[in-house]
Amino acid sequence: MTSTRGLEGVVATESSISSIIDDTLTYVGYDIDDLAENASFEEVVYLLWHKRLPKEDELAELKQQLSDNMALPQEILNHFKTYPIDKVHPMSALRSAVSLLGLYDDLSEDMSDEANYQKAINLQAKIATIVTAFSRVRKGLEPVEPRADLGYAANFLYMLSGKEPEDIEVEAFDKALVLHADHELNASTFTARVCVATLSDMYSGVTAAIGALKGPLHGGANEQVMKMLSEIGSEENAEAYIEEKLANKEKIMGFGHRVYRKGDPRAKHLREMSRQLTKLRGEEKWYNMSIRVEAAFTAQKPLPPNVDFYSASVYHSLGIDHDLFTPIFAVSRVSGWIAHILEQYANNRLIRPRADYVGPGMQKYVPINER
Ligand code: CMC
Repeated sequence: MTSTRGLEGVVATESSISSIIDDTLTYVGYDIDDLAENASFEEVVYLLWHKRLPKEDELAELKQQLSDNMALPQEILNHFKTYPIDKVHPMSALRSAVSLLGLYDDLSEDMSDEANYQKAINLQAKIATIVTAFSRVRKGLEPVEPRADLGYAANFLYMLSGKEPEDIEVEAFDKALVLHADHELNASTFTARVCVATLSDMYSGVTAAIGALKGPLHGGANEQVMKMLSEIGSEENAEAYIEEKLANKEKIMGFGHRVYRKGDPRAKHLREMSRQLTKLRGEEKWYNMSIRVEAAFTAQKPLPPNVDFYSASVYHSLGIDHDLFTPIFAVSRVSGWIAHILEQYANNRLIRPRADYVGPGMQKYVPINER
């Protein structure tokens, strides 16, 4: 038996949800460029879960179901107030709250298709409320109730700030959600599939996935990118900063990818959004700095920016706290996790690989007083 570090190149399952072929990303056969320009996030959710685009009445029904299920059980809001609020990262709060959500859903252990679909709606709807409510509670503010007349992206921004967002903000946020919704067998999606392949419930699968997304090599990278840009501080420092980090053999967050070689097709959309939004805010320095970081880094390492690099300055321009960037990734990616969980249930087999044992050979037990 030989092992492959990080399972690189290993094909672990069949899937008809998303594909990455020759650096082109598709959801159910639709190019991400096409969807980013034309589809709403709710359409993409429907696409991922039903493997086809919705008709008008189907989309309206999904929007209604999401809107009807956004409000959180009071127990979860109460629970936030018991967290050591100044120490808790919002990803940890999200992971705990999603796990808790399962406790208050009577359908949690019901594995019928109908119950699983209801859980899918519940998770997708409430994850936005969890992230925004936690963000407010930790600032001593009251959570803002979702509004039935707003779409998913608009509701998120509204519940976060308590103010009705501008159209351009909603458009940008919706596009960011579309771009992050699914990504073949990434680490968190694989985690979700491994978890539910034991026939565990959907809340457990999503909780496990949130744990995997949190790390800086995966979804946690977007927050780290903003930390880096803040440390760089001004445009003219970009080159020296990158040179020093690379001389110290440090990784630069937001660059590189296990699968893409020429580049991550999502990055160009976020780059353009970053250009427009930073200009609108009169804070072009974040975009300009990002461009200089990209040039300085890629001049030394042929690793193009990934989805996390320009999403940092996009979310910053939307006035979002930096430690909410990764929870926002989860708000979008839960749609993909759910699609993969449903696909796993539909054709399940336990996921149980082997390890190439490299420890000592057979040993004889030695009593403790003789060691
Ligand atoms: N900065 C500097 N060097 C890098 C970077 C980087 N961002 N990424 C890869 N390298 C180097 C790495 O040091 C190694 O060099 P050497 O062969 O000399 O030791 C080589 O490239 C291969 O790197 P690796 O870490 O073995 O590659 P991987 O396929 O295991 O990892 C990755 C992929 C995305 C984890 C990695 O590129 C990375 O750590 N990037 C920074 C974190 C990041 O931006 N993560 C977000 C990924 S995309 C969205 C998502 O999934 O959430």
